[in-house]
Amino acid sequence: MLLALGIFTAFAGSQTISPGEIWPDDRGQHIQAHGGGILKVGGTFYWFGEERSRGLNPTYRYVSCYSSTNLAQWTFHKDALKVYDPENFRPGWILERPKVFYNAKTKKFVMYMHVDDASYKLARVAVAIADTVDGDYQWVKSFRPLGHESRDIGQFIDDDGTAYLIFEDRPFGFRIAKLSDNYLNVEKEMCLIPMHMEGGAVVHYHGLYYAIGSALTGWNPNPNKYATAKSLEGPWSDFTDIAPPEKNTYGSQSTMMLKVTGMKATTVIFMGDIWKPATQWDSRYLWMPLEIGDGKLSLPEPKPWTLDVETGESVISK
Ligand code: GAL
Repeated sequence: MLLALGIFTAFAGSQTISPGEIWPDDRGQHIQAHGGGILKVGGTFYWFGEERSRGLNPTYRYVSCYSSTNLAQWTFHKDALKVYDPENFRPGWILERPKVFYNAKTKKFVMYMHVDDASYKLARVAVAIADTVDGDYQWVKSFRPLGHESRDIGQFIDDDGTAYLIFEDRPFGFRIAKLSDNYLNVEKEMCLIPMHMEGGAVVHYHGLYYAIGSALTGWNPNPNKYATAKSLEGPWSDFTDIAPPEKNTYGSQSTMMLKVTGMKATTVIFMGDIWKPATQWDSRYLWMPLEIGDGKLSLPEPKPWTLDVETGESVISK
């Protein structure tokens, strides 16, 4: 009985999401999926992000791929993209915030990412494609979406399956644009929110769109804010803090909002990065269920919590 209880406790413990802590994968190594995004394929969630382990070959850039069925325990698959300066961006080039979409028409998995030169002047997105979700992604091209500068990117898939890219266009603000039919291009701008915000994330919840962004403070945290709109075209409300501003988003920066709809409830997860610029391999994750509804959104104080992906219910520990 005691043994059974012990096993149960260990299992329950590992299903807990602990914001800010080391998050071990199936190999016991801290998950390397910074600035990441999640794609659900069947009943499995795939987490793609910046692989920043120590000891990587510094001439390559890496995008990792992990999978999970409960969003708490993650299995490392591989570096889905490993690429050596494909377009002569020069040493120190940047690959950040990868996000993967599935295109049901072409049956291809399409990865978007921010690519840049070492001084962040190129401001482009790149796309890479694969036949399977954890395949070897092949570089296709880089470009400026709709001709605009694009640094931090975010991914939004609406309830009807339409895929959008959120991107930060430094001179103007925060844009949300629809991808082309094959997802290899950014085709139609839905809106320009004239706010200088990055780490953009959008969720569609009970008939309202909620957008989150952070201020432009590099790796340092700042009070992330949200706005709402009835349609992506806007009009968008004013931006309001998602947490007490003095908390600086509890040391994190938004990368995505993930909606988990179960049989009983819907949980919207705030996925943020706690960056450690001098020791990036040790950057942590702040995932918390948001308080959301009726045009209001707030990020609760981080505490360990559990999620049941079947019911959609989440419980924050006392
Ligand atoms: C942040 C951005 C990160 C990275 C960093 C570089 O503002 O969100 O993805 O680009 O700046 O300083």
